[in-house]
Amino acid sequence: MCGIVGYVGKRKAYPVLIKGLHRLEYRGYDSAGVALLSNQHRLNVYKSQGKVSVLEDTAHNQDLSGNIGIAHTRWATHGEPSHRNSHPHTSRSGRLAMVHNGIIENYAELKQLLLDAGYTFKSDTDTEVVVQLIEYLQESLQLSFVDSVQKALQKVVGSYAIAVLDESEPDTLVAARKGSPLVVGVGDDELFLGSDASPIVEYTNRVIYLEDEDMVVLQAGFTTSEPKITLMTIHGEAKEPNIQQVTMNVSELEKGGYDHYMLKEICEQPHSLRCCIESAKQSLTPQTIELLNANRILITACGTSWHAGLVGKYAIEQLARLPVEVEHASEFRYRQPVISKGDIVVAISQSGETADTLAAIELARREGAKVLSICNVVGSSIPRASDAVVYTMVGPEIGVASTKAFTAQVAVLMMMALRLGHARGKLDEPLYTALTTEMDELPSKIESAIRQRESIRRMAQTLSFAQSCIYMGRGYNYPVALEGALKLKEISYIHAEGYPAAEMKHGPIALISQEMPVVTIAPQGSIYDKLVSNVQEVCARHGRVMAIVTEGDTQVSKMADSIITIPKVSECLSPIVTIVPLQLLSYYVACIKGCDVDQPRNLAKSVTVE
Ligand code: G6P
Repeated sequence: MCGIVGYVGKRKAYPVLIKGLHRLEYRGYDSAGVALLSNQHRLNVYKSQGKVSVLEDTAHNQDLSGNIGIAHTRWATHGEPSHRNSHPHTSRSGRLAMVHNGIIENYAELKQLLLDAGYTFKSDTDTEVVVQLIEYLQESLQLSFVDSVQKALQKVVGSYAIAVLDESEPDTLVAARKGSPLVVGVGDDELFLGSDASPIVEYTNRVIYLEDEDMVVLQAGFTTSEPKITLMTIHGEAKEPNIQQVTMNVSELEKGGYDHYMLKEICEQPHSLRCCIESAKQSLTPQTIELLNANRILITACGTSWHAGLVGKYAIEQLARLPVEVEHASEFRYRQPVISKGDIVVAISQSGETADTLAAIELARREGAKVLSICNVVGSSIPRASDAVVYTMVGPEIGVASTKAFTAQVAVLMMMALRLGHARGKLDEPLYTALTTEMDELPSKIESAIRQRESIRRMAQTLSFAQSCIYMGRGYNYPVALEGALKLKEISYIHAEGYPAAEMKHGPIALISQEMPVVTIAPQGSIYDKLVSNVQEVCARHGRVMAIVTEGDTQVSKMADSIITIPKVSECLSPIVTIVPLQLLSYYVACIKGCDVDQPRNLAKSVTVE
């Protein structure tokens, strides 16, 4: 995880770096730091535990001069969140400063080499080992700054995105990546660096996405007046930079009048879903559908994206009659799964950077399977490592708890299932046409769920007192139960379990009491009557039921303590609508409890470490 920002140019670097860190704070917020090469060519490093705003307080009244600098916001891996483990880390002499995102696997071995050479360490991090190694190589082999970074990276095993400054070369910033993302922004007379394009887009839309093992030297050109980019591999081979245009715009990165990004992202789902459906219609070409028409589909993903994958399994198996397996990427990559050439792997990821998902698809490709990814962030690592991609196109998702990405991922999977079923002759024409048309109506159905915000807020009042809670659903709405429970856990820290409703009697029903709310997802559908019996079983044990039901519902509504209604929707499409009140429910519970909705404790949006 962690976010990296860098700047080289004519502006004062500090404000650019701080603004960039705020944009990247979704990647981690355990600590933050900045290193600046001052106007006197001194290296000034400021850091603090906590969020970027704490760093700003720390740096206030310090020397913040300089046109070149690097900065970091951390999600702790090696070493607890603390001041001493905050980045940037400096070398023994204090001449070098480095920020890092990733994990150096052979850090213990490298550390021993440095300890033997008389080095001491100020932190518990793997990052400090690398910056010390760079200085060690510089001094022992008399290497230049650039050559010593290159040599050090050749010795490093693991994943990294790094940015390094050297006080003795005050116009140079060196950066490199392997396994963790890094983007260079190319302005007219300035250069930027970011873990993604969000800290860059307000200055330029011209970017270079670094590839694995790329190393880039950004020079201010104090003497030539033109900043200069030199791109090479960590093995020293020169490369031609490929400058691309990004389409993200700054307003997408703002809260737009909402109290939180999460609320904004929930409420913009009618719009984001429309964009997604339009984009998916274009991307799901007959060739892509042919690629999907494999012997078997293996879906792999993490977190919320995995829940979307589970809905996809139900849809593809029902509508296209093709076997689908859904697997957590972190399990898939290590359990020696049976993958054959006739399989297609579908990787789902909002960020396109999740380390386990990336590793899972690399494994699948090595075993000969084709990979199609469903991603939101254009140009990210997962689509670049895939044979084909369908972008969800919902714009940046900044709230750590994923919302609009989920509805979009499910919509793409649903369109895949429909087109695949149609192409395979498993779905008759009238049903195919009816469901395709209904997909276009989903945005307005979501709108109607969002309009019930007040009733949802009232339901949240009751839920906010719970210590623990069960979400239950069946069929297509079992994955929704899992996702609803995850939302509650993530942002309100209330323990919640998602369960297939009929499984309750095999254990969890023992937990039912007046203190245990049971959130039931009960829209009309083929399995509604079965679910009614499950609700009766809960009520018979004095459980308190909160239910999501279809407008006009009579049976579950009679038994439930409180209900939220959604418009009538076909069963297979219902998860796209039923999840929305659950997103709002967890949002309001977190607000009532005073939790940090957009930046919940211990979490980060993009998990680029395993
Ligand atoms: C993190 C985020 C989740 C997300 C998961 C997978 O855990 O907090 O919201 O679902 O990563 O992320 P991806 O970007 O691959 O969808």
